[in-house]
Amino acid sequence: MSFTPVRTPVSRLNRSQLFVPCSSPHFFAKAAQGPADVISLDLEDAVAPDDKPAARANAVKALNEADFGDKTLSLRINGLDTHYCYRDVIDIMEQSGERLDLIMIPKVGTAADVYAIDMLVTQIEAATGRKKKLGLEVIIETAMGLKNVDEIAAASPRLEALHFGAADFAASMGMQTTNIGGPNPDYGILLDADEQGRRDFHWQDLWHYPMVRMIAAARANGLRPVDGPFGDYSDPDGYRAQARRSAILGCEGKWAIHPSQVALANDLYTPPADEVKRAKRILKEMKASQKAGAGAVSLDGKLIDAASIKQADVVVNKAKEIAK
Ligand code: GLV
Ligand code: MG
Repeated sequence: MSFTPVRTPVSRLNRSQLFVPCSSPHFFAKAAQGPADVISLDLEDAVAPDDKPAARANAVKALNEADFGDKTLSLRINGLDTHYCYRDVIDIMEQSGERLDLIMIPKVGTAADVYAIDMLVTQIEAATGRKKKLGLEVIIETAMGLKNVDEIAAASPRLEALHFGAADFAASMGMQTTNIGGPNPDYGILLDADEQGRRDFHWQDLWHYPMVRMIAAARANGLRPVDGPFGDYSDPDGYRAQARRSAILGCEGKWAIHPSQVALANDLYTPPADEVKRAKRILKEMKASQKAGAGAVSLDGKLIDAASIKQADVVVNKAKEIAK
């Protein structure tokens, strides 16, 4: 380990994060009763400009009156480049008590963007006497955000999570794709010809680099990395493939832009039973081998050593957290 410690992450289940546009308050009750770990009340891109003030008022009302049980509640405000942003923060914090857990800042480009919202939140907390410290989460979804992701991840002690927003990211990068997450059949490589002269085309993952870049920045700062939207809600298999992949890479969860995606996310970001079983066997074997004075041993013909204990701990601890 480095001599520089990594901040201990705030413990919060974040397998599924269901987005509900605040312009459609009739969806709130269903979201509250469903199985999502986190509900994102959205004031940003799912709300038309003319509806922003009414959506904000709906969010205030829901935070004061609706029963969201013990779910984590996050509010996606409008970006710092809009004139809605300051009022989103002020109205919600001044008018809605302490129920809100997190504010999500979209399209963050620099650490100063986080600093600005932190400053506003801190002043309102002090002025209103709010006791529960509000957390922040940000979406990495622009070329600038990805370029500055390390500074952004270290920008505020309130920060809890970095999310990857594929749609805005694609737009900002000038990518020739209109999918919201998911694959693009034209992004791949043509393999060399086989003996019959056939050349297979292998699809590749166009989100791999930004995702891994963001996950590393998040983990280095004790934050949760979270995978963003998968727009094709009628393709559960596509969602599964995307989610499994980001879970293996280290993400804690994924957005659900439709209620049908919530159960998928809860399942896919829960470590699979066979992984947990193997992780427990690794821990048992390593305990025995360390007692016997051995560093590395073999389990099912594969090497395991001290690093395997850490890998196994990740899987077992996550399974325990979910089982609580
Ligand atoms: C989410 O906000 C996205 O742009 O994908
Ligand atoms: Mg976006």
